[in-house]
Amino acid sequence: MTALQELFLKELEAVTSTTALRELRSRYTGKNGVITGELKKLPTLAPHERAAFGKQVNTDKVFIEERFKEYEQVLISKEIKSKLSKDPVDITLPGYYKKPGGRHPVTIVLAEIADIFVSMGFSIEEGPEVESDYYNFSALNIPQNHPARDMQDTFYIETGGQSGEGAFVLRTHTSPVQIRVMEKRVNESRTNGTPLPPLRFIAPGKVYRCDSDISHCPMFHQVEGLVVDKNISFANLKGLLEGFLRKVFGPSVPVRLRPSFFPFTEPSAEVDMGCYFCKGGGCRVCKGTGWIEIMGAGMVDPRVFKNVGYDTGQYSGFAFGMGIERIASLKYGIDDIRLYYEGDLRFLRQF
Ligand code: DAH
Repeated sequence: MTALQELFLKELEAVTSTTALRELRSRYTGKNGVITGELKKLPTLAPHERAAFGKQVNTDKVFIEERFKEYEQVLISKEIKSKLSKDPVDITLPGYYKKPGGRHPVTIVLAEIADIFVSMGFSIEEGPEVESDYYNFSALNIPQNHPARDMQDTFYIETGGQSGEGAFVLRTHTSPVQIRVMEKRVNESRTNGTPLPPLRFIAPGKVYRCDSDISHCPMFHQVEGLVVDKNISFANLKGLLEGFLRKVFGPSVPVRLRPSFFPFTEPSAEVDMGCYFCKGGGCRVCKGTGWIEIMGAGMVDPRVFKNVGYDTGQYSGFAFGMGIERIASLKYGIDDIRLYYEGDLRFLRQF
């Protein structure tokens, strides 16, 4: 062992941390270190001594590097051990497993419906769940004596003896959002000249009816849709709804429109699709008809346009409304609407 090697080993013994070790190393093999210093002596030596000297310095350097590497490993594992002994967390223990939350089936289907309409250029609007009698009924051309206003269907809000137009209700459908959005557009048009049409939106949300059995729930969800522009026709409505239902239930699902009545649309239709379960053969779900009623729709009644101040000579439009639980039930084969809101994890974990 050379004197230089011995000196290095002696210094190495005194080192107790990786920081000090690196400092020692750079003192020996760094740019201005001992080894470089040795090499600088070369020109002062007699030419025949140079080769042997150079070789020796090189051996010293290799020796130092090797000892350094060995000792560094020793120090690193020592440092880890001492850190672990101070830190009470045992990283080798298994972690706590938390079951991740999941989305409710109604939320899943709602998001899917919204995606489809957004991809067709619809925006998404919202309205209040506590709604005035005016927006929920009167503005939608539902007259005072219409059965839908019957106390049995509608939850009225106590507002100190108000009745009729001044009363408040839990909205029984999402159709009042039609009125609110059209009114808002009329106001915007007056203040900053925003053009009235085109309007193209859906309005998803909770609705309430005083009803509870295997297919009715006091709170459920609807998606309303409204399109207003010049030259909007019933054919546009049919095409849109067919396209929508085929995206949700598959490209070959049959769709038909049946004449119906809603106070806020004229003409009105009920939209049926071929029964998802029996494929039209007739079963319990479709009550043997092969068809399932999936939504209401129609051309916006001129009286509704008049109520919000739209010129019926210039514009036409269509509206539609559907129940989300209904669609989710068909998609997932759920035969009792109450399952959605009982909070039973055995049910909810399936989605
Ligand atoms: N609001 C209706 C209901 O709750 C559904 C509906 C039917 C909405 C026809 C519409 C429509 O927009 O055009 O039963």
